[in-house]
Amino acid sequence: MINQRRPDGSLRHLITLDGLSRAELEDLLARAQHFVCEPGEQPRANQSLAGITIGNLFTEPSTRTRVSFELAGRRLGAEVVNLEVQLSSRAKGETMLDTIYTLQALHFDMFIIRDSQAGVVAHVAEHVQPHVSVLSAGEAHVSHPTQGLLDALTIRQRKGDRFDRLTVAVVGDIRHSRVARSAYEVLWGLGVGELRLVAPEALMPEPGEFAGGRRFTSPEEGLRDVDVVMMLRIQKERMEQAAIPDGDDYFTRFGLTPARLALARPDAIVMHPQPMNRGIEIDSAVADGPQSAIRDQVRNGVAVRMAVLEAIARPRRLRA
Ligand code: NCD
Repeated sequence: MINQRRPDGSLRHLITLDGLSRAELEDLLARAQHFVCEPGEQPRANQSLAGITIGNLFTEPSTRTRVSFELAGRRLGAEVVNLEVQLSSRAKGETMLDTIYTLQALHFDMFIIRDSQAGVVAHVAEHVQPHVSVLSAGEAHVSHPTQGLLDALTIRQRKGDRFDRLTVAVVGDIRHSRVARSAYEVLWGLGVGELRLVAPEALMPEPGEFAGGRRFTSPEEGLRDVDVVMMLRIQKERMEQAAIPDGDDYFTRFGLTPARLALARPDAIVMHPQPMNRGIEIDSAVADGPQSAIRDQVRNGVAVRMAVLEAIARPRRLRA
C-alpha cells in the first residue's frame, strides 16, 4: 500500500481512509462542519490554498464529486483547472503519467483523479514531484475517501458523534462499490456500533472483506431497527452483461420502499451517494421523503473537500 504521509507524519495524499486514526477522522469532520453552510448563507472561504494550482483529472463520469472539488478549491483561493482526459485503456497508468508530467511542468501542485482502473491513483502518487499531492475522487471499486467522509459527516449531523450507539445498514451492490468500502473504513474507524451488509448473494463482497460486518441476504432482516440506511447504485459498468440484475426483479427483492423503511427505527435516515436509479434501488417516495438525507450528502461534499484540501495543503500535525 502507498504511504500517504510526509516524513513528519502529516497527510500528503488522500488515496484511502485506511490507516487514518480516529483522531484524524474526527479532526477532518470537525473542520468540514466549520465549512458547512445553510441555504442562502454565503459559504465560508479563506485563502489557505492561494497560489496553488489544482488539476481535476476525471476519466469516469462525475457531476457532484467534480463540481464540489472544484468549488472547494476555489473557496480556498486555489486555481482549479478541469481537464478532459481521454486515455487509451492499454497501459493506462503510463498514459496518465505523461499527462501528469506535462501538468507538473506547468506548475500544478495537486491532482484530483477519478479512474475506473484500480491502482492508477497510487501509481501517479508514487511518481509525482515531492511537493505535489494526489487525491482520489473515486478509484474503481476500491475506494472513494471523500465520499466516505461526507457520509460520516452526514450521519454525525443527524445522529450525533456517538457512532458506537449506531447501527448502519449498507444496502445493495456492495461487491462493486467503492462508496461502501470507504464507508466501512470511516465508520469502522469511528467505532460504529454495528455495520450490516445487506445484499443479494451475488452482490456481496468476497469473504474476508468488510471484516466485522454482519451479512444479510434479506432486507427484511437486515433493515430491522437500524439507524441509518445507506443505499448503493448497481454498478453496471463494473459487471459482466449477464450478471446485471433485472431492474424490476431487483426492486421487488431489494428496493427501498416505504414499507421496508418502516422496519428501520422511526427516526432512521436514508442516504444514497447518487446517481440514483429511482424504481430500481430506491422508491422516489423514500428518496424525496422526510427521512432522506441525500441532499445533505451533496451539500456536505463541498465542506468535506475543503477540509481535506486544507489539511493536505497546510500540513498540521494531527493528534495521533
Ligand atoms: C458514486 C461514485 O461515483 O462512486 N457517486 C459519487 O461519487 N457521488 C456512486 C455511484 O456512482 O454509484
